[in-house]
Amino acid sequence: MRRFVLVLLAVAAGAGIGAVVLRPNAAGSPATAPIRGFDLPPAYRDWRLISVAREAGALDDVRAILGNDVAIRAFRDGTMPFPDGAIIARLAWSLDPSIEVHRAFGTDQTFVAGEPKNGVQFMVKDSKRYASTGGWGFAQFDDGKPAPHPEIRACSKCHAPDRGRDSVFTRYAR
Ligand code: HEC
Repeated sequence: MRRFVLVLLAVAAGAGIGAVVLRPNAAGSPATAPIRGFDLPPAYRDWRLISVAREAGALDDVRAILGNDVAIRAFRDGTMPFPDGAIIARLAWSLDPSIEVHRAFGTDQTFVAGEPKNGVQFMVKDSKRYASTGGWGFAQFDDGKPAPHPEIRACSKCHAPDRGRDSVFTRYAR
């Protein structure tokens, strides 16, 4: 139970800037560690909204991209590269017709988030620990457990550190 613990270190730097440190588990060296290189941040569901997305094709879901305080501040200020301690979460659900709206109007007028789908994914910025993958650590959790997944390089390769957006696809929705 206590294995999934996010160690939040609020470093009271002069300007009130906080730092977030994820407690690494017993996995190997950071650059080559499998996806289970860190633990599920317990508070991620309380993080703030960066944007939403609809994924077509095989994944077929609707998503919310959330950020911790460091990430949200960087998105709002346009800070790039993202500072260490930034964490971005990607949640996803099936996109279902709203039962309530169907009852009210008799049509599938509205589509809403259904069951959780395709795991919860994270990007954690630590420029030293994850230097070989653009400074980002990647992780996926299925039902709260680390997904048996290829190495973080598979995620990082598609996120493409050389795209000029610090490996991040999502833009802040105003
Ligand atoms: C084949 C390409 C591809 C792979 C592989 C991939 N992603 Fe992504 N990822 C995307 C795209 C495109 C988006 C933006 C659209 C969206 O929200 O899904 C995204 C969005 C994200 C976001 C939200 C921040 C952002 O960059 O927009 C996170 C967090 C994330 N992915 C984590 C992961 C993790 C963890 C893995 C590996 C388990 C992974 N991704 C593998 C393409 C990929």
